[in-house]
Amino acid sequence: MPVTAIIGAQWGDEGKGKIVDFLSEKADVVVRAAGGANAGHTIIIGKDKTVFHLIPSGIMREGTLNVMGNGMVIDPIVLIEELDKLEKKGITVGPERLAISRRAHVIMDYHKALDKADMIKDYERRVEHLSEKGVEIGTTGRGIGPCYADKASRTGIRMADFIDNTARLELLKKNLAVKNVLLKHFGQEEMTAEELDERCRGRAERLKPFVVDTGVLLEQQKGKNILIEGAQGTMLDIDHGTYPYVTSSNPTVGGDMIGVGISRIDKVVGIFKAYTTRVGGGPLPTELHGDEGEKLRQPGGEYGATTGRPRRCGWFDGVVARHTMRVNGYTEVMVTKLDVLDGFETIKVCTAYELDGERIEHFPSRAEDAMKCKPVYEELPGWKQDITGVRKLKHLPKAARNYISYLEKLIGAKISLISVGPSREQTIEK
Ligand code: IMP
Repeated sequence: MPVTAIIGAQWGDEGKGKIVDFLSEKADVVVRAAGGANAGHTIIIGKDKTVFHLIPSGIMREGTLNVMGNGMVIDPIVLIEELDKLEKKGITVGPERLAISRRAHVIMDYHKALDKADMIKDYERRVEHLSEKGVEIGTTGRGIGPCYADKASRTGIRMADFIDNTARLELLKKNLAVKNVLLKHFGQEEMTAEELDERCRGRAERLKPFVVDTGVLLEQQKGKNILIEGAQGTMLDIDHGTYPYVTSSNPTVGGDMIGVGISRIDKVVGIFKAYTTRVGGGPLPTELHGDEGEKLRQPGGEYGATTGRPRRCGWFDGVVARHTMRVNGYTEVMVTKLDVLDGFETIKVCTAYELDGERIEHFPSRAEDAMKCKPVYEELPGWKQDITGVRKLKHLPKAARNYISYLEKLIGAKISLISVGPSREQTIEK
């Protein structure tokens, strides 16, 4: 069973949704390995735009099996909303199209309340020494961190228990004894196990038919093409990203193996945006501020798919590219949103940083240092021409082809696909 992993190679929002949708044409199974409703994958088919936070984007392709892996943290409310949204579009999803891992963790109401509450602020106050300004992580408020924290402290509620009425109530009673102390401390409303259980009952019934041992299910897919749909990005990885300004999972190739429960990945496809964006706080060495940032944000429509927040924008960062290449070992790379650079006279690419007067070529391990890094740029000629209608590499302006070759050298992998617009057709296969 050939397995391909799609990996976000920067800080998330690289346009993976479109690429997954494109590659899922050849996939029999599409799997998500990590994260939860913090992700937002936008699929545009003709004039129809669909944003998924949880369900793998393969659901838009008839005949694919879509799997939500054990590494995910699943909010039943959001998942049911997505199922309803699909039904409204005339896509009825049954267990033959969607499988949810019995081992995946469930986001409960208290996780979201704690994520949004002062708990994070309090944590930030404690880590203020990490930055002069006390930058906020700015989570998506979807309960991701608190849910993964429970997973690690072995008090989480997994899908297998969530759909079991007896186990769920028992676990809620145990957990709420502690969670209510926290909720009270952070000025949030306390919850009773019975009330919360009552709210969960219908949701559990609705999801029950989809909940299976996805490891066993995938083992049965012998000879099928499996696509692991990445969420977030490598620089948000809890180990390899800009800790603590990261998410709470491992959206990298190692995390994929754990989050799906497989021992081999044949192809690792890194997705880079032709420039850089990030939502939330933390280091972003090539960030462009004010009007300069707007020049990328406006044509790129750079607003978060999950929270609507304006994304921070900057030039392509070769130091980040080398770092994420080392972590993931891309066998090929795809570049999205090249057309957003159409209007620029010249385009800058960061090749190294200056930190405390010294040139460095590796991404620093401490966020505090990364925030002090000054990018060293190479300036390349722009193409000043609309490329959204181009479908073949040879029809791209010479400066755009040069830019692509330059990125290939910087990343250290071949670019196999270039996206020049949001729709399925606006794609150049090399
Ligand atoms: P959390 O994942 O909600 O805990 O948020 C932690 C950090 O990761 C915040 O800076 C978020 O903005 C960022 N983040 C989480 N998911 C995504 C994503 O899918 N795309 C981009 N940024 C994300």
